[in-house]
Amino acid sequence: MLTIALSKGRILDDTLPLLAAAGIVPTENPDKSRKLIIPTTQDDVRLLIVRATDVPTYVEHGAADLGVAGKDVLLEYGGQGIYEPLDLRIALCKLMTAGAVGAPEPKGRLRVATKFVNVAKRYYAEQGRQVDIIKLYGSMELAPLVGLADKIIDVVDTGNTLRANGLEAQELIAHISSRLIVNKASMKMQHARIQELIDTLREAVEARHPR
Ligand code: ATP
Ligand code: PRP
Repeated sequence: MLTIALSKGRILDDTLPLLAAAGIVPTENPDKSRKLIIPTTQDDVRLLIVRATDVPTYVEHGAADLGVAGKDVLLEYGGQGIYEPLDLRIALCKLMTAGAVGAPEPKGRLRVATKFVNVAKRYYAEQGRQVDIIKLYGSMELAPLVGLADKIIDVVDTGNTLRANGLEAQELIAHISSRLIVNKASMKMQHARIQELIDTLREAVEARHPR
């Protein structure tokens, strides 16, 4: 059995066509179903529906053999037990710092609100900058508006969310896309099957999302 962990929303929407190219189609619509384990048209392949940030956890621990996760999530997670063999070129965005439009750089310690705590620590450590990191789980854009933080670190696509809240993108931390990830033990134990799937997905990515 091959188990693939996916999150609902844009990752599921953009991954299903790629899986379909490999002949893997869910037997019921994961967006409508309340089920968290979804069989597919291939008897030996099933999908697990998990939170986006939980995908690497399922794959590292071997509860799923494969998964699809944003590079932002992978950078934050760290993790030693995961291979990242394929850029699926979906869910493209950028991990950026942002702050209130026109706000001066604060003089003392910078207060940064984000759900990407590890990314933030690493980023400012590399710059030798002292910061206080404030962990949030969502709606990061609010933090600078109400004086909780000077800046945020979040993903930016169109910039509409920042603009709607009087913020502007500042420094680019990383270009982000979603990656196929594979459990290291699964890669050894089921090498032929997984390598075949990776190769088919790579062709589908080249066809659907050419560089
Ligand atoms: P969770 O549900 O665990 O809080 P999430 O809400 O960030 O996670 P999604 O919004 O489905 O989950 O995002 C999944 C991935 O898609 C992110 O990890 C990121 O790589 C990418 N992404 C997030 N927002 C955008 C966006 N506006 N445009 C393009 N890609 C995005
Ligand atoms: C994501 C992210 C930003 C927004 C950026 O939120 O958290 O708020 O997209 O995209 P933009 O630059 O095009 O506005 P999403 O829409 O996924 O909602 P979420 O917070 O529920 O994940």
